[in-house]
Parts: sequence; structure tokens; C-alpha cells
Amino acid sequence: MTDASLETLRCRAAALPSLRELLGDPARLAALHCEGAGITADFSRQRVRLEDRDALLAYATARGLAQGTEQLFRPNLLNPTERRAVLHTALRRTPEETPLMLDGVDISAAIAEALRRMGRIAEDLRSGRWRGATGAAITDVVHIGIGGSFLGPALACEALGPCTGPQLHFLANVDGVAAQRTLAGLDPTRTVIIVASKSFSTLETQVNARTVRRWFLNRGLSEGDLKHHCLAITTQLDAAAAFGIPPEQCLPLWDWVGGRFSLWSPMGLPVAIAQGMTTFEALLAGARAMDEHFRTADGAHNLPLLLSLFEFWNQNVLGTQSHAFLPYADALTQLPAYLQQLEMESNGKSVTADGQPVPEATGTILWGTVGTNGQHATHQLLHQGTQPFSATFVFPRRGAPGLEDHQRWLRAHCIAQAEAFARGLTEAEIRASLTEAGVEPEEAKRLAPHKRLPGNHPSSLLIIDQVDAHSLGALLSLHEHKVFCHGMLWGINSFDQWGVEFGKVLGDTLYAAQAPQGDVPALSASAEASLRAALPTDGKP
Ligand code: F6P
Repeated sequence: MTDASLETLRCRAAALPSLRELLGDPARLAALHCEGAGITADFSRQRVRLEDRDALLAYATARGLAQGTEQLFRPNLLNPTERRAVLHTALRRTPEETPLMLDGVDISAAIAEALRRMGRIAEDLRSGRWRGATGAAITDVVHIGIGGSFLGPALACEALGPCTGPQLHFLANVDGVAAQRTLAGLDPTRTVIIVASKSFSTLETQVNARTVRRWFLNRGLSEGDLKHHCLAITTQLDAAAAFGIPPEQCLPLWDWVGGRFSLWSPMGLPVAIAQGMTTFEALLAGARAMDEHFRTADGAHNLPLLLSLFEFWNQNVLGTQSHAFLPYADALTQLPAYLQQLEMESNGKSVTADGQPVPEATGTILWGTVGTNGQHATHQLLHQGTQPFSATFVFPRRGAPGLEDHQRWLRAHCIAQAEAFARGLTEAEIRASLTEAGVEPEEAKRLAPHKRLPGNHPSSLLIIDQVDAHSLGALLSLHEHKVFCHGMLWGINSFDQWGVEFGKVLGDTLYAAQAPQGDVPALSASAEASLRAALPTDGKP
């Protein structure tokens, strides 16, 4: 057993004081406040002593994290099962940096050219230079994509405030209700669609894109008119051309950018359309600042590394079973959904990169609700339920201008929840306060177990100055790197997603089994029975 083994970490935890006891130590408090890329991280409510943090840092070094980190910024083969490099960080390098060669090609030149084209398209749409087939200016843009081709752009567009260009709409779900609701009230002569799909083969996006194409044609536009109304973001130019979108209206993606890491690529076009290219560049700058911090900060002050190590400690040593992500900023309502894909698609794996079973619990079941809404819905289970969990709070120092009192309440509640999770409330404290309020001792005794909060729930608090493009970029990049560190700690490939494929194959079979001729068998008797039960009962299709 070396000093840096998981067993040693578990032995340390056996003698761990409670969070209540740990919170009183001022030296610990100061050491667990760190800064990076404009984010202040308060890790003081993590259930670690400083010597546990140091043991975790030693564990990270033993797992190769010190050298491993640099791989993310250089040509690499971090995704061996798909034989792909992982280089989303290249998307936010500055143009002045030295060329970045991958397979003999300078990818930084290709990125710069793609972002220039993206900026031109966004500006044409924003300025009204881009005209529809009838000569009308464009008022609405429908972004059709799912997963990584949806969550990032949708989050950023919502977070950064009302559009200052054409109105953005997002269509992801294959449920026809989503298509109908998105198109309701739109004028096809003033609408542009973006078919956003790295593979240009994702079923949901294909079905929705075909429906919107028919909508254009049924509302008086001709096939020839479509080029004035369709854009694509994809690696598959031929497939886009077959759909009717010529190469000059396609923005590129590359194999070395995973879908859930693609916001920084031309996939961010909706952000540039809604807010302008300068805002998109600020998003890149925020992410770049966090990249720089991740590469250069020492372990004890490295935000992505510490966030990952403390969550690793919580899950694999203390035994937490889920992670609540709680942004106290209404503009970040969609952030938990974005992080769910990032965390759960990346690290929901059960074998190591070389195919051996991982002995530890991997992946993080991440969920979350914006604060304070969650306090009136889900937090009861957090305070008094029996499942161990950890949490991340995000709080912006500044909120809505002129409504500072709202921000005071929000601040108070955010920190109150973090304190309640950490400290809990003992029966003795409850009985004392009830008795002081004049409640009979017998009644106080009866109520106390119902009012008790066990506490001892670890959390991190991430403080940003305000929700803007720079801070959002830094926050997202922080979590990308945290996910990467986690993958290294578990020894898994965080960049493939083979599990998703099986569901797609079964979905195709069950779609075919619904064909009128009915000669394609369903998967099983139970699948057949479920299909029958799920058909409309009036017999109509
Ligand atoms: O669900 C799997 C997945 O491949 C995600 O990883 C990806 O972000 C999403 O589907 C969309 O893929 P595409 O951009 O190829 O349509």
C-alpha cells in the first residue's frame, strides 16, 4: 500500500472530523479559498482537512495527472476507441499563438478561417444584409440540433440575455410537438435554419430538419429558394449537400472536437447571431483564461483539479451517490442540463481506456435546479433524505441592476443552503430553541426528530463577478477540465460515448417494426406488446 493509494485515502476518512468541526479552523478556511480566471472557489465546505487535500494531490500525481494535463493542449490520442485526438482547447487559442500541427495540417489556420466565416454570417444576419428568397430581412433563426449540438448554444443564448439580433429558437426533441411549437408564428420568408449536426446523421436532427424543409416548401418557397434559408454546421459536407445545403453555406467541425465540447467551434454560431461576434470572442477568452489557469496553477490552487479531487473524494471515499448542481442565477437555469451531458456522457463508463473493468464507482449522477426555486421543490430531500450527496453552488456577485435587494436575498439563501448542508441542525439545538419559544418540553421532544437535519453534506461554492460571456466561458472550461481530471483519476476514456449507440440501433428496429406492412419483427414479445399498447387506441396512425 503506497501513500498515494485509494486504500490510504479511505483509511484517512475513517478518522475524519465532521464538517461542523472542520469549519471553525481559520487556517483551513483561508487555504481552501482559491482564485482562477475570475472565479473564486470556496472549498471550505468540503469535508477534508488540509492534509487530506495534500494526500489527494499526491494521488492525482500518482495517477499521472501532472503530466497528463498538458496532453489536452497538444496533438494527442486521448480518444483511442474512436482513434481521435481531443483538441477542443485549440478552438480558444489566440490567433497569435504558434501553429498547431495535427497530421501535418495547421489546425489553427483552419479554426481562424472558420471563425471568420462564422463572424461574417452572423453579422450579415444581424445587420439585415442577409435577405431571404423574397428579399425580406431575417427576423428568426431556428437552430436544429441535439445533445452537444444544442445544449451549449441554447445555454449561452439564454444566459447572455435577450437577443440583439434575430430571434433564436432551438429545436432538439424529435417529438413533433416541439417542431410545431417552434414554427408556430414564424414567417418562412424571414426565417433561416441552422442544421447543426457533427455527423449529419443524428435521427432527431434529420427528422426535424426534413420537417422544417417541408414547412418552407409548403409555405410557398421553392427548392431553389432554400439556399437563402438554410445553413449547416457539420463535418459531413456531402451529406449536407445531399440535403440541399451547399458547401459555401456549411460551417466546418472537426473530428478532434467532441459534440459536448463543441460550443467553442462554429457550433457557437447562435451565440454570435444573438449577441454578436464580440460576445462570442469574450466567451472564448473566458475559457482560454481557465485553460491557462489549469495549465499553470499549482495543485493546491488549481480549480479544475481541486474540484475534481474533492468530488472524487466525496464519491469514491465518502460514498456520495449524486451531485446537486445549484446555480443561484436565473440566467444559468440551463447549466445543470449542459453539465449533465458533459459529466454523464463523458464519464459514464465502466472500463478503463485499455478495456479493463474499473473497480470504483465511476461517472457522476449530476442533477440540479436553479436556486432559489429548488429550495421549494427538491431541497427537502437534500436536507433530510437518506441518500448521501455533494453539491456545487454558483453565485454571481452582481445581479439585476437596480434590484440589489433581490441579490441580497439570493446571496443570503445561497450561503444559507450551503451552511445548512454542512452544519445540519441537532435535536438538542431544536429542543433548546423550541423551549425558548415557549413550547412545552414534551412537545419539543416529540418534534425534535422531525426537525433534525443531519448535515455533513460537502459542497463547493463558485463565485463569479456576474453572468457574462467571459465568466460563462471560464465556468464551462472549468467543468470540462474537471471532467477530464476525473477521467484520468478513474483511468477511463472520457471522450467516447458508445453506450448511446445501442439505443439508436434498437430505436431503428422498433421504428421499422411499426411500418404498415408489418414484416419487421419487434425485438421481443414484450417490445411488441409495448408497441401495441403505445399505439393510439382509435386505430388511427
Ligand atoms: O447522443 C450522442 C451524441 O453523439 C452526442 O455525443 C452528440 O452531442 C449528439 O449525439 C449529437 O450528435 P451530432 O452533432 O452528430 O448530431
